[in-house]
Amino acid sequence: MKKKIIIWVVIAIVVLGLLIQLVPLPERGHNPAVIAEPKWDSPQTAALVKRACYDCHSNQTVWPWYSYVAPVSWLIYNDVIQGRHRLNFSEWNGQSRGAGEMVQAIQEGEMPPFQYLPLHPSARLTSVEKQQLITGLTNSLP
Ligand code: HEC
Repeated sequence: MKKKIIIWVVIAIVVLGLLIQLVPLPERGHNPAVIAEPKWDSPQTAALVKRACYDCHSNQTVWPWYSYVAPVSWLIYNDVIQGRHRLNFSEWNGQSRGAGEMVQAIQEGEMPPFQYLPLHPSARLTSVEKQQLITGLTNSLP
């Protein structure tokens, strides 16, 4: 009797796991064209922003294989769609935003988000790199 219940629970989990794969994520895996980027003050600034911010704040997102597997895909999808919506370095035209908010987000350790870092160690900045990024953003943006 107990064995039967366990088997049914396992079947239910597997079926549910397959069904959630069918939830459509229309923009997943899609990188729209890059329209305009800020004029970075140096290649170093450009490299640091790309490492730490571009996956969610640009149209040059790297979509890893697990971004195709629900439910993890839902979290990534949400980050990219929301991140691009708030701040998109690839659609900079007419958006001329100051560095203030970005600097604050970096200083407070809010950006890049902590849950992103374990699978993206290259986005982890040393305190020297953080300072270089902050200076670079401040010099590049109005
Ligand atoms: C893993 C995805 C991800 C990465 C990487 C990331 N962000 Fe974000 N960012 C978001 C999301 C999602 C939001 C919107 C929700 C929120 O505010 O938490 C956001 C919001 C912001 C905002 C607030 C914008 C507004 O209008 O409210 C700023 C500023 C920002 N990010 C700067 C950065 C900077 C600078 C970096 C790189 C050092 C960075 N982010 C890296 C996902 C990301």
